[in-house]
Amino acid sequence: MPPLRLAFILVAATLSAQSAPMTGNWVTATQKLDDGTDYKLYFQLKQNGAELTGRVVHPWGIAPIVEGKVTGSHFRFVQQLWPGERWTAEGEVAGDELKYKGSGWEGKVADYVARRSPEGEGNPPARPDLPALRPVPANGMAKTPPMGWNSWNKFQDKVTDQVVREMADVIVSTGMRDAGYVYINIDDTWEGQRDANGVLQANHKFPDMKALADYVHSRGLKLGIYSSPGPKTCAGYEGSFGHEDLDARTWAKWGIDYLKYDWCSAGKIFKTEDLQPVYQIMGEALRKSGRPIVYSLCEYGEGEVWKWGPQVGANLWRTTGDIGDSWKSMTEIGFDQGKLAPYAAPGHWNDPDMLEVGNGGMNGDEYRTHMTLWSILAAPLLAGNDLRSMTPEIKSILMNREVIAVDQDPLGKQGQRLTKSGDVEIWSRPLAGGAVAVAVFNRGEAPAQASLKLADLGSGLKGKSRELWTGRDVSFKDGSYSASVPRHGVLLLKIQ
Ligand code: GLA
Repeated sequence: MPPLRLAFILVAATLSAQSAPMTGNWVTATQKLDDGTDYKLYFQLKQNGAELTGRVVHPWGIAPIVEGKVTGSHFRFVQQLWPGERWTAEGEVAGDELKYKGSGWEGKVADYVARRSPEGEGNPPARPDLPALRPVPANGMAKTPPMGWNSWNKFQDKVTDQVVREMADVIVSTGMRDAGYVYINIDDTWEGQRDANGVLQANHKFPDMKALADYVHSRGLKLGIYSSPGPKTCAGYEGSFGHEDLDARTWAKWGIDYLKYDWCSAGKIFKTEDLQPVYQIMGEALRKSGRPIVYSLCEYGEGEVWKWGPQVGANLWRTTGDIGDSWKSMTEIGFDQGKLAPYAAPGHWNDPDMLEVGNGGMNGDEYRTHMTLWSILAAPLLAGNDLRSMTPEIKSILMNREVIAVDQDPLGKQGQRLTKSGDVEIWSRPLAGGAVAVAVFNRGEAPAQASLKLADLGSGLKGKSRELWTGRDVSFKDGSYSASVPRHGVLLLKIQ
């Protein structure tokens, strides 16, 4: 290159670096993970005068920058994780460092430093070719909605081998196993790195998965595990991208009985249209592994998963975003699920997410509403609380056998809303043998008087019925029944 031209380029580059000091790729390590790596965010920024645009690449996905401003060395930008979740980063640019205050999960604000990183680092791998669609043969499992326990809602990254063993002990000693709760499911953050042969290892919290599976099996229980079709899980751990067959074989060798397969970083590589073939890859891998493994899809209801879930060999599929331990979250999710009733059947269930019963954010009436609604919905009953410290009331909610029997009804028909009048909603679910479960919910802030007419609930009903939370027989006089329902509470009748 002629020296003059080179000099010109160098000067231009220097000027642009001075006038747009924030343009480029920046990396910040926000947390140490249990697999020994850092949880890294990449800010891929473009400065144009006072305007700052670009995106933030997270392990689980990519968030666009929706607001960004630079004034001298001061900057502020806002990333949009998803509708309703925006995080701000605000600070100073000083040469090769950004020193900033950033918001994070659960409203946490902390000081961070981002450093320059090579262009392209942090970018997702290219989208591979996907297989043609072909139905994965049903595995014959989960004829009724799966029941058990999952670590995420309560323990998140605090789950360990010890916690899992203690949950297995207590699920037996409390009688929960005998009430039907048999799956002990380890959620995210168990993963370690791959060895030289690509075989996925657990991290230091799980010293021996095979031994853990043996222990859980020796208690008459089954063990579940978690992964992602992307390179990283939602918490930033190793996912199964490109290793699907190997991982399925590894889990089968360990003695795993259930897989929750969470979209997470797959969203950085694939589009909504790719969901089905991507989930088919693991569906086929599980079948090839030779071990019966319940297949639970977690992609938040994208791409109308209920329409194709059975074709990829799935037994259940999440229909919504994550549940939280609050009346608002639980009811927004639960009361919106009736429309999916046609898609539930033995072996194939809609999954409105795991239970929050016993986690402390709702009162007894609210948790009875949660348990009732999930049972009417034929939802999986995966307890998400610390089973070692349940009050008698929480035990009575999780272990009411008659309520569980509604959830586990062999007909496998999901219920739906019959009527809504003000804050009172009546939902019903047809049961095997011609009976029907009828739930009367009061979503209001004061007790409500509710009345039911037998004729509105189905034909052939005799009126012989029982309220399943009190265990009392109730009678319909002249075909109707009226009762008071507490604020945020519920009555659950089984009518013959
Ligand atoms: C997603 C899922 C949750 C949980 C976390 C783990 O948010 O929806 O249920 O598995 O990932 O990182």
